Amino acid sequence: MTWFKLMKLHDLEPKRGRKVTIAQCEIGIFRLYDGSLRAIGNTCPHRQGSLTDGIVSGHYVYCPLHDWKIDLNTGLAEAPDEGATEMFAVRVDSSNNVYVAMDDDMARAMCLNPSQSEESLSTKN
Ligand code: FES
Repeated sequence: MTWFKLMKLHDLEPKRGRKVTIAQCEIGIFRLYDGSLRAIGNTCPHRQGSLTDGIVSGHYVYCPLHDWKIDLNTGLAEAPDEGATEMFAVRVDSSNNVYVAMDDDMARAMCLNPSQSEESLSTKN
């Protein structure tokens, strides 16, 4: 597993999402109302809407395309809708740098097409 340094904590507005790309995998970083962070795949399980363009309420984000409600604690769509987006570990260091963790196997399976080299996984932001 690799931790990728993304940004400073103050670059994340409360109750907003921000899109980042790691190894060509689009990830949404969300700062919730209580200041905690979540990192999920930025693709809605319905029809690939960009979740960082959605509205954050509590620990949910509402997809901007068709209003599915995605739980930022689990990545699951709220019933009766079905599906999930990926969850990533996220942390903040003592200098307020925000990191997200990506497992190399997960990145290869989710983010990279077979023609891409393994070297792209070692690229850190
Ligand atoms: S694409 Fe997200 S609800 Fe349809």
